[in-house]
Amino acid sequence: MILVTCAGGKTGKAIVNALVASGQAVRAMVRSETSANNIKAMGVAETVTGDLANAEDVIRATNGVAVVYYIAPNMDPNERLNGDNVIAACQSANVSRLVFHSVLHTQLEALPHHWERHFVEQSIVNSKLSFTILQVGSYMQNMLPAWEKMVETGVHRMAYDIDAPMSLVDLSDVAEAAVKVIADDGYANGMFEVAGPVISLNQKVAILSKVLGKEIVAEKEPLDDFLDHGRAIGFSDFTLATMAKMFPYYDDHGLVGSDKALGWILGRAPTDFETFARRTAAALNQGS
Ligand SMILES: NC(=O)c1ccc[n+]([C@@H]2O[C@H](COP(=O)([O-])OP(=O)(O)OC[C@H]3O[C@@H](n4cnc5c(N)ncnc54)[C@H](OP(=O)(O)O)[C@@H]3O)[C@@H](O)[C@H]2O)c1
Repeated sequence: MILVTCAGGKTGKAIVNALVASGQAVRAMVRSETSANNIKAMGVAETVTGDLANAEDVIRATNGVAVVYYIAPNMDPNERLNGDNVIAACQSANVSRLVFHSVLHTQLEALPHHWERHFVEQSIVNSKLSFTILQVGSYMQNMLPAWEKMVETGVHRMAYDIDAPMSLVDLSDVAEAAVKVIADDGYANGMFEVAGPVISLNQKVAILSKVLGKEIVAEKEPLDDFLDHGRAIGFSDFTLATMAKMFPYYDDHGLVGSDKALGWILGRAPTDFETFARRTAAALNQGS
């Protein structure tokens, strides 16, 4: 049995789907009964509700599983507490491996949500558990909530510089890699970058224009506008403060890794943005 935490989120659903499709028995940890009911429909063997910040909940969720695939909440003030709870639960359940779904470049102090992960990674390495750490780049799928609006308006808006380089990765590739990493103990005690090919917003819109058969332009959304909107739709102060640091960092540096390790894990080239864009447009009956 494999425990997947934060199973009801964007990442969690992709990992759960891939594990279930590969024939693995999955216990999905979610926060609410509503999420539990939704995720049952995905074919998981078991669901458990609980909060990662609550040590007893995490022990209950981990009891009796062989492997834990630890997805952490996105931008959470309890990053280290959650990590400590997962590590302690893995130790008491004697799991055979803890796989941590981390982020690219956890050594960057300028990105608080990456930097906090650095300490979780350190605790995992020191835990004497068998572990694998996947340092995952930003997903191509992050643009999907705004895809229809982009097609309608002809503008692809993000809150960072339109020439900033980003190693965008297809979440489907990430999930495929996760299944392989879990199935093979040869990945034990390794850390691997899971990043896609480098691309900027300007390069993305050239591809999107071709795929959709209409001009799409890239536009940087001013940070204050983004934060005002985030506040209006209920982002926490912690999330807003984190994003206020993240986007200026992206302006200056982007977020760039290498796609070599992912290609090696998959045994093929990672999906490029054009393939992702064509797949997305085809699913929505858009473009040619
Ligand atoms: N998005 C990316 O591009 C990207 C790239 C690389 C790595 N990652 C990493 O992937 C992880 C998940 O990100 P995501 O984009 O999939 O986020 P997401 O869609 O917001 O999902 C996060 C999930 O975490 C659950 N959650 C939040 N706080 C929790 C807590 N205290 N206890 C238990 N569950 C809790 C939420 O449950 P509710 O549904 O109940 O709120 C939600 O289902 C993050 O650690 C992020 O750093 C993301």
